[in-house]
Amino acid sequence: MNIHRIAISTGGGDAPGLNAVIRAATLAALQRGWEIFGIRDGYNGLLVPEQYPQGWLVPLTRNEVRGITHLGGTIIGTTNQNDPMRFPVRDADGTIHEVDRTDELVEAFHTHGLDALISVGGDGSLTIANALSKKGLRVVGVPKTIDNDLDQTVATFGFETAVAFATECLDRLHTTAESHHRVIVVEMMGRYAGWIALESGISGSADVILIPEIPYDLQKVAEKIREREKFGSKFAIVVVAEGAKPVGGEITVHSRPAGRLERLGGVGQKVADELRVLTGKETRLVVLGHLLRGGSPTASDRQLALRFGAAAVRALAEGKHGVMVALDPPRVKYVPLDKATHRIKTVPLDSDIILTARDIGVCFGD
Ligand code: F6P
Repeated sequence: MNIHRIAISTGGGDAPGLNAVIRAATLAALQRGWEIFGIRDGYNGLLVPEQYPQGWLVPLTRNEVRGITHLGGTIIGTTNQNDPMRFPVRDADGTIHEVDRTDELVEAFHTHGLDALISVGGDGSLTIANALSKKGLRVVGVPKTIDNDLDQTVATFGFETAVAFATECLDRLHTTAESHHRVIVVEMMGRYAGWIALESGISGSADVILIPEIPYDLQKVAEKIREREKFGSKFAIVVVAEGAKPVGGEITVHSRPAGRLERLGGVGQKVADELRVLTGKETRLVVLGHLLRGGSPTASDRQLALRFGAAAVRALAEGKHGVMVALDPPRVKYVPLDKATHRIKTVPLDSDIILTARDIGVCFGD
């Protein structure tokens, strides 16, 4: 079946580079004579159309995508709520149960004459894309996340931008930490993987980096801070990934909202409080949070995003679907969605970056 009309959706947490994907996919589709539409807010436009009186399908034209490559966020909106595979429905007594609405989604695509979907998202959105693909929809996935935790692709756009910003924050925190002889704990996003904390921590010369892959013992961290004092450094920068946990302990969960992933956050406060007691030093906490998701994508994130967007359209034009575009330098390849969503990519403990950090004296709390 030939393609005439396609849709693109951006789902999950936003990441710098989403607009570049939308622009490349739009221009590549228009060049082939196709129509292309953006679905508002992930799949929300299809699932709760009554919330979109102005329409939930945004026609993407050359004008619509002009001048957006450098903009953070996504012009069509996103959400990490209302997962169509477990859509939350409130009963009369106020309790919430979850229903699978993927059949309805596939049906809505047919009703609107949409021949295929480009789904830009992380682990969650690509799992949904895979389910839609298994139900007969032609889907191509585009990997997106600042967390860099998607398997099967060497990189995701947004990650480098987040690392660059976090590094700049660490540089700024160094001068104030040193002037006041303080310990500054910096909590960073990244969910169950320590990539952002690790890469920015190394680039920003952190003294301690705590990541989910290496459970920590704060006695070891306190020792490191005391040892630094002996050599005349009366301050320390401690980077903590939000998914870090103590040896034998649990991850710190902020909340577990219905129909969506658990929210992490709060481990930085615990680490700062305990280090204050263990070292007797003045301690401060900085949570970078959503600042890591904003801003203009770096040049390489823009390129990666443009390459992914164009490759997604090429895949559809070549009759490929049920696949995710993936970076395998120097090329972009296609991997089955099944394989792409199988597991998340965490930091390998024997990786060169961990070895480098250890060689230059970074403490992982182990
Ligand atoms: O997956 C991207 C991410 O920013 C994670 O690093 C973080 O745990 C989560 O999203 C935060 O989600 P929310 O925007 O719902 O707070």
